[in-house]
Amino acid sequence: MAKFSLFPESASTIAGQVDGLFFFMIAVSTFFGLLVAGLVVFLSIRYRRRSDAVATDPPLLNSLRLEVAWTIIPFLISMVMFYWGASVYVTMARPPDDAEEIFVVGKQWMWKLQHIEGRREINELHVPVGQPIKLTMTSEDVIHSFYVPAFRIKADVVPGRYNTLWFEATKVGTYHLFCAEYCGTEHSKMIGSVYVMEPSDFQEWLSGGSGSAARSAAPVEVGRTLFAEKGCVTCHKAEGSMMGPSLVGIFGSERELAAGTRVVVDEDYLRESVLNPQAKIVAGYQPVMPTFAGQLDEEELLALVQYIKSLEPVDARDESAEAHAGQGEGNG
Ligand code: CUA
Repeated sequence: MAKFSLFPESASTIAGQVDGLFFFMIAVSTFFGLLVAGLVVFLSIRYRRRSDAVATDPPLLNSLRLEVAWTIIPFLISMVMFYWGASVYVTMARPPDDAEEIFVVGKQWMWKLQHIEGRREINELHVPVGQPIKLTMTSEDVIHSFYVPAFRIKADVVPGRYNTLWFEATKVGTYHLFCAEYCGTEHSKMIGSVYVMEPSDFQEWLSGGSGSAARSAAPVEVGRTLFAEKGCVTCHKAEGSMMGPSLVGIFGSERELAAGTRVVVDEDYLRESVLNPQAKIVAGYQPVMPTFAGQLDEEELLALVQYIKSLEPVDARDESAEAHAGQGEGNG
């Protein structure tokens, strides 16, 4: 019983905020639950049927003050919950700019993770303490859910799209990783561990100090190779071509489509454009690109997207997104 606790350890920057909100809602619910239960008992005794005609208080028919009070007070309390909840949600939904990206692919029944430097892991995730981490997640088959109770983060991992989660671990240690969406026979075995390490230990681990079996090429390099091998480079030349727009500097920019609408180039748009090229044709181009559905697995798609993200104009590195958009239009 010494190790028994009602709550998992609190080991991320967001954990305290999530718990604070949770306790507030528990407290409010408990207060009103007890109030109503107490009144039910009290009033049923006080106004029980008497044997003889005992004079009771005159009935209260119209009290504006009472009506207003029990309308306004619950409204204010629920607004506090709404704004508090929304602010925690927004914090959780927006990864900080300096977050390190890690790729997560769910599969019946394992978690496949890859660091941006190339190191791969299965059902284990090593991260440095005090560093924001952004997880870009997708699934190869059915819906899974990535859940680390100690960090208070959980999100569905859905086939056909990218979901993101972010966290910053605050305590060195080992924490549970669960799949929190029933995904088939061995769902309960789709578990793992998150190892939070000192930054120096993490760097040593990342460079594969002990056992380099898991070492492999960085996703961006894999993507570069695929871009050449699959022939993407034939039409998507850096300077653009008749067949397809240049992809240099397009990530994060807004593109005008043949249909007249606009689209922001993000991971999902790039992924869709590889698998279903006809869905969103950039204005000025013909729908001539063949689909690559079935030719690339999710990890290869992530690598390709990563490579396209890395394509920045040679003389405009680290400049504003505006400059990228301008360059992209010039090329396309
Ligand atoms: Cu994957 Cu449950």
